[in-house]
Amino acid sequence: MSRQLTVQETQALEWIAVVCPAKLNLFLEVGAKRSDGYHELETVMAPLTLADRLWFRRRSDSELLLEVVCVGGQSGEGMPPAAENLIYQIVDGLRRATGTDQGIEFRLEKRIPIQAGMGGASSDAAAALRAANLSWGLGWSDARLAEFASRYGSDIPYFLAGGWAVCRGRGERVERLSRGLACPVVIVRPPVGFSTAEIYRRHQAPEQLHSIQPIVSAILSGRTGGVARELFNRLERAACGVSPWVERLQRLFGTLPALGHQMTGSGSCYFGIFPNKLVAHRVGNKLKSVLPDCRVIVSDLLAGD
Ligand code: C5P
Repeated sequence: MSRQLTVQETQALEWIAVVCPAKLNLFLEVGAKRSDGYHELETVMAPLTLADRLWFRRRSDSELLLEVVCVGGQSGEGMPPAAENLIYQIVDGLRRATGTDQGIEFRLEKRIPIQAGMGGASSDAAAALRAANLSWGLGWSDARLAEFASRYGSDIPYFLAGGWAVCRGRGERVERLSRGLACPVVIVRPPVGFSTAEIYRRHQAPEQLHSIQPIVSAILSGRTGGVARELFNRLERAACGVSPWVERLQRLFGTLPALGHQMTGSGSCYFGIFPNKLVAHRVGNKLKSVLPDCRVIVSDLLAGD
């Protein structure tokens, strides 16, 4: 959410818009499977200017409504029906947990690619949960919202916190970093999306874990080149077994003037960090012509929230 909303604003039955940013994983190390079925991980999350927009307004009745509109090159393909959307599920869950009979209405402008490793659904769910908490005057603390949200997705607590962060556990233990870096990125969404569960199922725990320290030091000292050199994603290997697109994009980005490149999260999006906006836009245009089946997005990592 870009700014703090007042209770008066959120309870006035007027439409309010909030921004739901996408994320990239600049580092993702994944260890062994735990007894609860999740994998222990350590990751650096960085927010993007690329974002969905969520409109909401409190209703005077008890309806819970959601409309999804695809914008900015997003196709509706693979989008779940409204009742299966994480926004609907988490807000309905909040209603049941609190016993409130208040209603709320959402309109989601969906821009972030889906099944892409960019956290779109989690970011939307975090914004919706915060909106309902405010609109209904529930007064849940950030900690309580985060604990509740983690039941609906490992990434949602990160989006409640926002900014640059290191996340651990199954992703729900969030430690915010004191600073981030603004830099241009080009992202490619292949014509296929990856299932997070399938990528984790194929993952084999490494004998030795890759250290997160070098990339965190590079971020905190503001060294873009250092960050780009330390990019790491353990799940890339598992993803290579799911689709030839990962190796194809690895090879293609190797021919571009990228400072560094890799897959984000459990894929299927692949990104590169570029030295400046001009180069990023040139590369974006080139990729659009050589990859007509893909969605190519030129965006920026946000230094702050
Ligand atoms: O928590 P989330 O709903 O994003 O996870 C989707 C699936 O990804 C989980 O059901 C699990 O199979 C896998 N996962 C995992 N370890 C994690 C996060 C996700 O195995 N740390």
